[in-house]
Amino acid sequence: MTFAKEFMPNPTNILIIGANGQLGTELSFELQKMHGYDHVIKTDLYLPRHKVNQEGVFCQLDVLDKDGLIEIIKRHNIKIIYHLAALLSASCEKKPLQGWQLNMDGLLNVLEVSHALKINRVFWPSSIAVFGPGSPKENTPQHCTKDPATVYGITKLAGERWCEYYFAKYGLDIRSIRYPGIIGYKSMPGGGTTDYAVDIFHKAIHHEPYECFLSENSYLPMMYMSDAIRATLQLMESDPQKLSVRSSYNISAMSFSPSEIYHEIKKHFPDFLCTFKPDFRQQLADSWPKSIDDSIARRDWNWKHEFDLEKMVADMILNLRV
Ligand code: SER
Repeated sequence: MTFAKEFMPNPTNILIIGANGQLGTELSFELQKMHGYDHVIKTDLYLPRHKVNQEGVFCQLDVLDKDGLIEIIKRHNIKIIYHLAALLSASCEKKPLQGWQLNMDGLLNVLEVSHALKINRVFWPSSIAVFGPGSPKENTPQHCTKDPATVYGITKLAGERWCEYYFAKYGLDIRSIRYPGIIGYKSMPGGGTTDYAVDIFHKAIHHEPYECFLSENSYLPMMYMSDAIRATLQLMESDPQKLSVRSSYNISAMSFSPSEIYHEIKKHFPDFLCTFKPDFRQQLADSWPKSIDDSIARRDWNWKHEFDLEKMVADMILNLRV
């Protein structure tokens, strides 16, 4: 690992906030591959513990520390920011005020500093959790009632409004995606409601039974990591004139229930056993859409997914087996 002080500034440097998380880990890899290791500055509240996160330039940063954020941006001549640090849905339910503080004040720090320091482009992730009991459950459209019933969803919806505001008022080029549950093999999610769809693979691969914390018929929108990364990079590279949404884009790939993914995994591990014991996360899942209409993303920036359930399960198992 190279530490930040050895780094030589370059005009197109990228800052990743929350680089050790599920999405940050894989996004860092891709950006490092595209732009070179020295041009991607990874930051996180914690030092990288896993080998997978230890390549490249790293600085420890709490996004709530606005002065620290400004210092890193100036020192590294940052022009593009990916702000991924957040508490996910289950963690927010356990610590509502902490969730609000990190998700909201963290975003506002990034928006304020990006505006003040003339950052060229910012990415911030929203979520299907912006929808709530009053939103249509099937093919939930881009624009419809949004009445999130979870702390996480409230922070994401408020965040979307702030993003649109900074774009409209200050011309800040901020772009966002409402991610569904994301499934990948290189990094683990933490504190989310859709985490079961990653955990289940790790049990199956180790020939252990899995107790799922959602009921067998809870349909949720999901996406394979490679599609999620491709979508993010594609949106960030899109012509700004073509982007009609400056809150956050719906995107979708597949929807499945715990029972369906269990049976798909069983095709590879016939002895695998999964039982279902819903906990408090069931209520969160019940308030979210079952499937998403992403026609506006498909129209505006040619979004198209590649992985469905069958292809994703086969690829996860292939990679986890290595
Ligand atoms: N995957 C997130 C969660 O479960 C939803 O965006 O919290």
